[in-house]
Amino acid sequence: MKKMKFGTLCVHAGERPDPSSGAHTTPIYQTSTFVFDSAEQGAARFAGEEDGYIYTRLMPNTPTHAVLVEKMAALEDGETGQAFSSGMAAITGVAFSLLKKGDHLLSTDAVYGGTYELFESVLTRSGIEVSFVDTTDLEKVQRNLKKNTRMVFLETPANPTMKICDIAAICGMARQTGAVSIVDNTFATPMFQKPLAMGADAVLHSCTKYLGGHADLVGGVVVGSREFIKSMRPVVNITGPTMSPHEAWLCIRGLKTLHLRMAKHSTNALEVARFLEAHRKIAWVRYPGLPSHPQYEIAQQQMSGFGGMLSFGVAGGIEAGRKLMNSLELCSLAVSLGAVDTLISHPASMTHAGVTEQVRIKTGITDDLVRLSVGIEEPEDIIADLDQALERL
Ligand SMILES: Cc1ncc(COP(=O)(O)O)c(C=O)c1O
Repeated sequence: MKKMKFGTLCVHAGERPDPSSGAHTTPIYQTSTFVFDSAEQGAARFAGEEDGYIYTRLMPNTPTHAVLVEKMAALEDGETGQAFSSGMAAITGVAFSLLKKGDHLLSTDAVYGGTYELFESVLTRSGIEVSFVDTTDLEKVQRNLKKNTRMVFLETPANPTMKICDIAAICGMARQTGAVSIVDNTFATPMFQKPLAMGADAVLHSCTKYLGGHADLVGGVVVGSREFIKSMRPVVNITGPTMSPHEAWLCIRGLKTLHLRMAKHSTNALEVARFLEAHRKIAWVRYPGLPSHPQYEIAQQQMSGFGGMLSFGVAGGIEAGRKLMNSLELCSLAVSLGAVDTLISHPASMTHAGVTEQVRIKTGITDDLVRLSVGIEEPEDIIADLDQALERL
């Protein structure tokens, strides 16, 4: 059968009637362990000679997880995947599977604050060398690739600066050096960006955001080749960053409407971005769908839509920004993103508070930056809320 379209895959990929009961909807296999038919079967599963479930901490976890990773693999054009208890657990799992003492990691400089802290403190403490590079500048990337570079980590669009880097070009450079490239696709989602098709070895997400979509789960997922996912087994099985079966089920449920939600997030965000850009009390706006975005051309080439995230600065700086956030009535003042409702936050004092001021300023996470995760409400209502708050400044 011809490969189905993205929206059909969101609904159907990985789904099948439950083999043990015929249940139409994937059940939550809320179990910690699985019974073997024989002692020989148990031994064969532990030895990796037979596929099958063993214990929920151990890959492949449970049949609920299997449906989730099959669906995600179909959406990302990968072979298979692995679910994690959070986006940070996914990044940690990939990093510790690939890197050892003496290896070098090249990472986008303006990454999510938690990722920055993981790389900057935990990895360096383990004897791994880390370079944070402005990956919008290909010359800088080339200059910072070293003989011992084992992993290149890209976040694009980056949280919260919305900086975009050329995935295909950088993955090509990484491959020539013998490094593995990983893309955090949380902001774009597979609906709008397919890093594996552009040469990445693996793609990962915080499922907590758009994949789950309803701000009611915490999870992460990595998608890649069977070989890549299998290579994570030793670290994942021992460190135990397993997603719970219930979260896996919630994420499957969320993914069934990913295409509908992302289309609305994206059209809403463009309308909101245009409104803000035209407003006299707004100093600047960064949204990949606006021609004013510094990497607009690359965004047009590698993204098929621009998602629901944007950042902006209010004229009057952080004080005016705080006043705006405190005056909103519909939009929620909360971290996280990718929820059905609009969320607003201040990265410098919240999600990126663990990043030093010097690094924040250097990477563009300025004090005046306000981050908006545009929801799927009607755009007129989101704009009216922002408008009334701006009027109070
Ligand atoms: C781009 C990006 N990657 C990873 C993460 C970490 O995800 P989680 O909070 O699920 O651990 C976040 C969290 O905000 C994020 O924004």
